[in-house]
Amino acid sequence: MAQNWTPSSWRQKPIQQVPEFPDKAALAATEAQLATFPPLVFAGEARRLKKQLASVAEGNAFLLQGGDCAESFVEHGADNIRDFFRSFLQMAVVLTYGAQLPVVKVGRIAGQFAKPRSSNIEVQGGVELPSYRGDIINGIEFSPESRIPDPERQMMAYRQSAATLNLLRAFAMGGYANLENVHKWMLGFVKDSPQGERYRKLADRISETMDFMKAIGITAENQPSLRETDFFTSHEALLLGYEEAFTRVDSTSGDWYATSGHMLWIGDRTRQLDHAHVEYFRGIKNPIGLKCGPSLQADNLIELIDALNPANEAGRLTLICRFGHDKVAESLPKLIRAVEREGKKVVWSCDPMHGNTITLNNYKTRPFDRILSEVESFFQIHRAEGTHPGGIHIEMTGKDVTECTGGARAVSAGDLQDRYHTHCDPRLNADQALELAFLLAERMKSGRDEKRMVVNG
Ligand code: TRP
Ligand code: MN
Repeated sequence: MAQNWTPSSWRQKPIQQVPEFPDKAALAATEAQLATFPPLVFAGEARRLKKQLASVAEGNAFLLQGGDCAESFVEHGADNIRDFFRSFLQMAVVLTYGAQLPVVKVGRIAGQFAKPRSSNIEVQGGVELPSYRGDIINGIEFSPESRIPDPERQMMAYRQSAATLNLLRAFAMGGYANLENVHKWMLGFVKDSPQGERYRKLADRISETMDFMKAIGITAENQPSLRETDFFTSHEALLLGYEEAFTRVDSTSGDWYATSGHMLWIGDRTRQLDHAHVEYFRGIKNPIGLKCGPSLQADNLIELIDALNPANEAGRLTLICRFGHDKVAESLPKLIRAVEREGKKVVWSCDPMHGNTITLNNYKTRPFDRILSEVESFFQIHRAEGTHPGGIHIEMTGKDVTECTGGARAVSAGDLQDRYHTHCDPRLNADQALELAFLLAERMKSGRDEKRMVVNG
């Protein structure tokens, strides 16, 4: 167990990005009550995910992680969850088929509520108010009352996470994710797009394979792996009071686990070595992520790895790189070389969203070509360094939103106003997400072919 660590030892450290709650007594009462509630996930599941991520670290699987930038209370409904999940399954099946590697499936969902902000205040029409920090903390409405941090919101976030996770588990294990349904995951509006056509062809091939397997006696009835899938949850563990309330001892191992989600990550703004977030994370046994932005120096990264993964356990730590299409070539190779030199076992994942945000017509947006460009560079750099481009981390929705520009259906700057629904950052719509999956599948396939040529040649 980590030395001198307790679920509350982070409280002795400086902390960034967590606001002052005006009513301290109410906050303490809420945290005490949350600590009595059932956990959302259990330690055995987190260990299972860690094992799958170890296989990614070793180059034998690929990580797909995605979902909303921020979940919201108003968008909580069955249709949204289902649309997200089928879009996610489509991506997963395209990647599995293209890369011929198992895909580890992790949603940014069922807990992704708290947001770090670049500014503590927001100004609108000369009025200055505290920034919105996610539905678990305050309200998005621009009024003084709504922007006051309210502990009661943590209860709502917990209930919503539980309901969301319940439906996702049902979908993953109860038949919806059965590969026999591969055609049914197509969304109405994707059907008529170029991606839809491409997806249909791939789904036809999978159905044909399934028919062949059925003929030889392998069916979804007798093969659970054909009808079920492992789906895990993740979020940025920013609000440490909430996380502490869900930090529980696992009775089988005696270890501490965060039980608010399977995998948690540390944001790029809260990864200071001697601060509260790193302190909290070093004591939990879950698989964890660390966001790596352009300001992260190689020696600092190694110190963080030593603090967060002292036993150098594969699958424990995923480095989620978010440099921007124009900075990745400068930033990433240095980090890879340091990690390789020190023999650290990590999963390398690419977040092509957060370094590519711009403002157009007063909307925060992300040009799809820059997203693709960062992904391309990520793959090229790993190929050149001889390391495994292990995964992707994206902000996406199953809906037909207009938040990121570009893509085969060419969302323009003028289109942004049509269906701009995000509570925080712009997300890929279902079409753009599928297009990205096809590109990734191609890159992984060519990487595989290259390796084969080296082996055979
Ligand atoms: N169980 C396998 C897996 O999760 C195969 C599978 C079943 C699957 N349903 C799926 C793959 C949906 C992708 C999408 O990989
Ligand atoms: Mn975001």
